[in-house]
Amino acid sequence: MAITPFRHLAVAATLLIVSTTATPNKRDGTFANPSAQVRPFFRYWLPDGSVDPTVVASDIRSAAEVGAGGIEFLPYYGYGGAIGGNPPGSDWVTYGFGSAPLQHLLQVALEAAKENSVLVDIALGPNQGQGVPASPDADGIQWDLVPFVQRLPVNQPSERIPGWGEGELVACILASVDSKTNVSMTGDSFPLDSSPPQSSYLELVLDEASLQDVTHKVSSDGILAIQSSGSSCNPYVFSFYQKRTLHKALEVESNRTDTILANGSFVVDHFSKEGAKTVIDYWNNHILTEDIRQLLGDVGNYGWEDSMEFTSNISWTPKLPDAFYNKFGYSLAKYLPLVMFGQNNIMAQPSNPGLMKAVFKNKQTSDKYINDYRSVLADGCPECESLQWKDKIDGYRQFAGAAYLAGRKVVSNEMGAVETRTYSLTIPELLQRVNKAFAGGVNRVMLHGQPYSGDYYGTTWPGSTPFQYLFAGMHSPKQPSWIHGFDEAMGYISRAQFILRQGIPKFDVAFVNKDSATDPNWATKYGRDDLVDAGYIYTYLSPDNLELPEASVDNSILASQGPGIKAIVVTHDANITVSAIQRLKGYAAKGLPIILSGGSAQYYPISNDGGVDAFKTGLQELANSKGVHTTASGDVAKALASHGASPRVGVQTNGTWYITWREDKEAQVDYAFIFSDGSNSQGEITTTTDKVPHLFDAWTGQRQPVVQYNRRAGVLVIPLTLKANQTAILAFSAHSLDGIYTPSVHIKSAPNSVLGYNLDYESGAVAKLAHTVNPSADKFVMSDNSTRTVPDTSVIPSSFLIRDWTLTVERWEAPANMLDASTIASIRNTTHHLPSLLSWTEIPALVNASGIGYYSSQFIWHPNGQNQIGAYITFSSILYAVQVFVNYEKVAPIDPTAGTADIGPYLRDGENELLVVVPTTMWNYLRSIFPEITESGTPPLLSSSTSPMNFPGIVPNGWVGEVYIRPYMSFALGI
Ligand SMILES: *[C@@H]1O[C@H](CO)[C@@H](O)[C@H](O)[C@H]1NC(C)=O
Ligand SMILES: *[C@@H]1O[C@H](CO)[C@@H](O)[C@H](O)[C@H]1NC(C)=O
Ligand SMILES: *[C@@H]1O[C@H](CO)[C@@H](O)[C@H](O)[C@H]1NC(C)=O
Repeated sequence: MAITPFRHLAVAATLLIVSTTATPNKRDGTFANPSAQVRPFFRYWLPDGSVDPTVVASDIRSAAEVGAGGIEFLPYYGYGGAIGGNPPGSDWVTYGFGSAPLQHLLQVALEAAKENSVLVDIALGPNQGQGVPASPDADGIQWDLVPFVQRLPVNQPSERIPGWGEGELVACILASVDSKTNVSMTGDSFPLDSSPPQSSYLELVLDEASLQDVTHKVSSDGILAIQSSGSSCNPYVFSFYQKRTLHKALEVESNRTDTILANGSFVVDHFSKEGAKTVIDYWNNHILTEDIRQLLGDVGNYGWEDSMEFTSNISWTPKLPDAFYNKFGYSLAKYLPLVMFGQNNIMAQPSNPGLMKAVFKNKQTSDKYINDYRSVLADGCPECESLQWKDKIDGYRQFAGAAYLAGRKVVSNEMGAVETRTYSLTIPELLQRVNKAFAGGVNRVMLHGQPYSGDYYGTTWPGSTPFQYLFAGMHSPKQPSWIHGFDEAMGYISRAQFILRQGIPKFDVAFVNKDSATDPNWATKYGRDDLVDAGYIYTYLSPDNLELPEASVDNSILASQGPGIKAIVVTHDANITVSAIQRLKGYAAKGLPIILSGGSAQYYPISNDGGVDAFKTGLQELANSKGVHTTASGDVAKALASHGASPRVGVQTNGTWYITWREDKEAQVDYAFIFSDGSNSQGEITTTTDKVPHLFDAWTGQRQPVVQYNRRAGVLVIPLTLKANQTAILAFSAHSLDGIYTPSVHIKSAPNSVLGYNLDYESGAVAKLAHTVNPSADKFVMSDNSTRTVPDTSVIPSSFLIRDWTLTVERWEAPANMLDASTIASIRNTTHHLPSLLSWTEIPALVNASGIGYYSSQFIWHPNGQNQIGAYITFSSILYAVQVFVNYEKVAPIDPTAGTADIGPYLRDGENELLVVVPTTMWNYLRSIFPEITESGTPPLLSSSTSPMNFPGIVPNGWVGEVYIRPYMSFALGI
């Protein structure tokens, strides 16, 4: 997790080794069994280099067993000692990043990965990878701009400029202030820092015309030689200095002088070659033994050689501010250099403005500064984060658009760091977040995270819990679900990612807008429903992205070999540059439809761009260009459709469906990944294709042709029903798929009694029909216009409920010795009789219980000799996960959103034995013993009086709702 408000944690994102060397063939494995490359990874938190290597090896084996593709090896060191401090007994200088024991652990981890056929990413440094141990006067450690502001003392023009002596002077600016406001900050940031959270900042509104660069007038002893002009009222002087921040990702107290580790670990300069070189040198000298280099060649997720090249190819010019200006191209920064970054590091998130910010008076130039993350992301290794993005689909779009335009294949997401939900986040909640990320363009999740499972200093059972119990999730065998449902969820994620890595992602529409550092972080930009309702797939690009070589128009399509954008939308509240207007004019001339929605866009100034007049003229010319259409706001979908930009997938539904679309030209297969957000939904999707539609089930790995659909005037129409948060994968293939029976005709219309279809070579297509009270003479109508008359469905037994459960609870509890952190759990069983299902919190003996519930019941089944009678089992609610056994045979994995499975093959005449295995989260139990828990020598921050978060209450556990058996009759369709 990247928690940014740590003052001293400059760049909190874990920096990864990037750039792939995957072999092209079979790189991804198969849909049923995806390769390690495409499976989700765990961030693996190694407490420090002193831990037991055999436990590290077994943790990696567990990760592989549960279906992870690998781990991100993160030497966490108690988050640099920032939360809770380094525990008594720990010894960074001996066991730090680069020490011999750490080298040994890394080697063991790589060997374990090799043995278990999984891959390893490695953070570039300790804590979150922000840097490495270094000398405090190394040029490659982090630099910062430090701003100061002061009213110009009218009668003392020779006073030293504010902050003089703070560092090397970069700029000194004079400006008149028209007004000032104290703005209070209502943050949603996590004040984990020991310093009090910033509660307000001073906002100065400047008169743009009054800005004067007076840097050259500052004498060598800091005297600003100017005369008060008299005309400018309220003059302020702004001064900016550059200096090393000496920020450390890891603080250490040591008086040793014989090792560089005694300095702790510095944050390096992420904008300079020197920064990269500092990291490279450290790795060469302290990490990369010959054995480790070789192992990295085998199991390094991204080729090591490449990564070195990548790292040394960073061409950012050294030091601020030039690096910053060159990189971001902000000229305004010249006048307002980074004021809003205040005393923080330049990479501080935009949601944390510094001590003050200044804005221009003129609305058109108001707070249009600096930090366009998207242009950076197009360059680097994009990984976003579910926590900072607040699981917003629109936020992910803003992140992913540039990456895909720039030809990136993988958009990664640090998934599942949810506040106050450690040990209580459920699988359906995690998957909902995963699916939202997928809907926004993410195609790799890196799960947050897997803790080291062994003993550690001052740490009781259930063991090392990074971030002091503040954040989910702790994925390890200490979760009862680990091999009782979590593994199946990992299978789902892996298969969905497999699909989301095939071919190239396509988007119908891109919004163009330049973000400002002061804009809310990843806020929803386009809040209307019309595009989603119509099926449009859209993304965001910044003016800088339009300068990428990939951003050209052919055949009226932007980046036709890439995202294939069919139209561009510029909304009236979008902030765009003069050069973006010129780009858009060029696109329009080449036939790309451009929609100006709701009025004129806003001016985003850049140096030497001709100013607001050039902007206005340019915008007017753009509006008058052929192929540029001006519409009222809110009419975007309509305008797109009427100007020839139709969605690749049309949607008609009573719910909300998010579509992602990928085209694999080589295999001649297109994929639609559909996510039903929030509600049960029904409808159809339409697309223009001759290809044959298939339904892929990411829970089971099963693939089968869609049996029932229509083709109307060249348009394929597929009916679809999805539960809340359920997803569906449709694959449109030009060929029949290997080993899959594909009938030559399909069903155009079918009776309502159809529950589903099965296909195989032996029986062809088989419909499953439900009991109907008054069956009408319904028919199936085939695409060749032949019909099939439905048999009498009133003879099919009707649905029935299962009641009267015997519940055996395997209670997972603390070992007698709380300091035994490596024990999974101490287990004891209790048995309960339940006439109907209830949350454990409603059963007095189980209120504080966590573990695994084994629910068994029996039912009588008399198919009356009709072997075509089978049944589905349906759960009205799944809190966490279920695994179903019928007559001791395991039923296929059940999607918790759908809650249903075919148990027909497992039924027998007479009494049938049903066993439902239901894991719970550990929270209710842990909560009940919380005072006994310590983490790295202290009570968890979550329960302390200084906790930034409320201590969470008890959560529903176990199994609630009803379970139905729904008989069906198999009806062979003869196709
Ligand atoms: C370092 O030396 C100072 C001065 O002798 C001493 O006060 C301090 O405790 C020492 N720190 C450590 C971590 O040994
Ligand atoms: C454009 O900039 C203004 C001022 O910074 C901001 O309030 C607005 O949200 C921005 N618009 C978009 C679409 O980001
Ligand atoms: C959509 O229609 C289906 C079938 O009638 C219904 O079950 C579902 O609740 C509806 N969804 C919404 C969001 O109205």
